[in-house]
Amino acid sequence: MTQTITTTRTLGTADAALTVSSLGLGCMGMSEFYGTPDEAGGIATIGRALDLGVTFLDTADMYGPFTNERLVGRAIAGRRDEVVLATKFGNERAEDGTRLGINGRPEYVRAACDASLARLGVDHLDLYYQHRVDPTVPIEETVGAMAELVAAGKVRHLGLSEASAETIRRAHATHPITALQTEYSLFTRDLEDDILPVLRELGIGLVPYSPLGRGILTGAYAPAEGDSRSSAYFPRLNGENLVTNQALVDALAAIAARQGCTPGQLALAWVLAQGEDVAPIPGTKRVRYLEENVGAAAVSLDEAVLAEIEQAVPRGAVAGARYGDMSSIDA
Ligand SMILES: NC(=O)c1ccc[n+]([C@@H]2O[C@H](COP(=O)([O-])OP(=O)(O)OC[C@H]3O[C@@H](n4cnc5c(N)ncnc54)[C@H](OP(=O)(O)O)[C@@H]3O)[C@@H](O)[C@H]2O)c1
Repeated sequence: MTQTITTTRTLGTADAALTVSSLGLGCMGMSEFYGTPDEAGGIATIGRALDLGVTFLDTADMYGPFTNERLVGRAIAGRRDEVVLATKFGNERAEDGTRLGINGRPEYVRAACDASLARLGVDHLDLYYQHRVDPTVPIEETVGAMAELVAAGKVRHLGLSEASAETIRRAHATHPITALQTEYSLFTRDLEDDILPVLRELGIGLVPYSPLGRGILTGAYAPAEGDSRSSAYFPRLNGENLVTNQALVDALAAIAARQGCTPGQLALAWVLAQGEDVAPIPGTKRVRYLEENVGAAAVSLDEAVLAEIEQAVPRGAVAGARYGDMSSIDA
């Protein structure tokens, strides 16, 4: 029988608190970057996710671009009340996909929010993130504009993505921040030094993106021709690095076999074990993968297994940077 998610996590505190299903669903790959987009598969996966209690959905205006929000809007039509809906602005793109840069200007924030609401077919967003910090606009101005959206009832909670510790502090002083979304997995642990302590000090939740290392931690990573992960933007998923990293996944898979779960489930259970303020959003466009990932919530890891995992995939063992050219981050 397929498991359901019955546990929740609370991101943020006091007025900024937002309760979400402990595991969310990343919708990006349904529309772009990871192989052939699959609208029908995406809609079916979102419907199944809601049935299984995975109600925390993640999208962004730039995925597609714009088509992912429309897809999510279609999938949740008639079920809006079941969903904790998160989207993002700031990686500006034209309709044809051309990248226009990072934009955190207040007038853009307002226009981007209205456009997202229209595409999603909803009257409010539960969580609205700045996707990337605009270095040319003081964070107080961007978050100030985001706070006006809260006052207007268009947005319930605010988030940042890939922000520095200093930016998080300044943003939170402007308006309470509910969550930081950033990459976190057995392969990406940089944030443990500088970011995680600040989040905990300020009571801000963490939403780990790419918790499966963009798929490699499942042990079933096999990108098709034209998949963006095969490009130089993702050094750790290519060439010699991929060989080294695959060996780490093999070691993880051996532990998973002993635990009676899959490597992907073990990788997600590890993320879930990092704190009650952590709610990962593994991405998939397939019902089968979603159902497997939901099973991770039932995998409990004691200290001995956590130590085994640490030994098999030591922090910093991964080969290659997570992004190649940081000036052209796609996703
Ligand atoms: N804030 C940001 O800058 C940022 C950046 C990247 C992503 N995100 C968000 O985070 C979400 C998740 O991250 P992600 O999609 O990059 O990476 P991920 O969740 O680590 O991995 C997704 C990949 O793993 C595959 N997969 C998922 N479950 C699987 C399973 N059980 N067995 C085998 N393969 C499985 C998926 O395959 P299929 O595609 O074939 O289903 C997909 O290719 C995204 O959807 C997006 O919403 C945010």
